[in-house]
Amino acid sequence: MYLKESLDNILAKDPAARSRLEIILCYPGFHALFFHKIANSLWRKGFRTPGRLISHIGRIVTGIEIHPGATIGRRVFIDHGMGVVIGETAVVGDDCVIYQGVTLGAGAAARQGAMSRDTKRHPTLGLGVIVGSGAEIQGAITVGDNVRVASRSIVLKDVPDNSVVVGVPGRVIYRNGERVAPEKPQEDVPDIEAQAIKSLHCKLSELEGTVRELKSKLKQQGKELEIFKDKVCPELAMEDPASSGINSSVELKAVDEDPVDVFLQGAGI
Ligand SMILES: CC(C)(COP(=O)(O)OP(=O)(O)OC[C@H]1O[C@@H](n2cnc3c(N)ncnc32)[C@H](O)[C@@H]1OP(=O)(O)O)[C@@H](O)C(=O)NCCC(=O)NCCS
Repeated sequence: MYLKESLDNILAKDPAARSRLEIILCYPGFHALFFHKIANSLWRKGFRTPGRLISHIGRIVTGIEIHPGATIGRRVFIDHGMGVVIGETAVVGDDCVIYQGVTLGAGAAARQGAMSRDTKRHPTLGLGVIVGSGAEIQGAITVGDNVRVASRSIVLKDVPDNSVVVGVPGRVIYRNGERVAPEKPQEDVPDIEAQAIKSLHCKLSELEGTVRELKSKLKQQGKELEIFKDKVCPELAMEDPASSGINSSVELKAVDEDPVDVFLQGAGI
């Protein structure tokens, strides 16, 4: 019964699957769940180390690590599977699909070490959840029924039923088929590089102003410093670009489209 249901499920969900024999021989997700069935049964009967051992062998064979204590529903399909990690207190509902590289992890509880033993630390996935490749779902959160988690997302909070979650940290962009208004951009996550460049840019402008002032004072006094004559920066090197032999249109373009300004506009600060 278990075998037939599992094989039929994979045949129905994976367009690449051609036959039951192919699935039995070549599907690591199928093998991993088979190992887990044995490991979980041993674990629940109190045979903890044999349970861990079977789970470990399953990991060596498939590249998929499922803790024997994890609860896995029916007709779950782990596609490709390499790098999947499912923690001890995770619950995966019926009909979920999990792609390669997914982590159902303990999140912040991992910091508490042994203190958090025997507490719920890992996520609970509802029915029919799809978790895209490389996504992470961390902590004892609940991901509702029919949620789709985009590949590479990191989900740290509960997700309501029938949602699509994307991004880092994960946010809901669709709920019940309706687009959810994008959240306000996170102002508390600063763009440190852009801020550093902006600060340098301000200081540079200040310095340029000071140099310009000094130059004009010197000029008024009929003096000119030799060091200003061979500067690469046209702003400092000359006041009259035409007299320099440098193409003035090129120079104007360079000043108009200051790459620092372009970058800062892109960063939105
Ligand atoms: C998230 C996902 C489940 C959503 O699927 P869907 O709802 O059927 O529809 P779409 O793929 O059109 O995506 C819906 C929205 O999510 C966005 N999106 C999809 N994947 C995304 C990602 N990884 N990161 C950010 N946004 C993503 C799309 O751009 C789209 O946004 P839009 O409506 O503003 O254009 C799907 O795109 C996905 O990532 N599936 C995992 C597939 C996978 O890992 N396959 C591995 C096989 S080898």
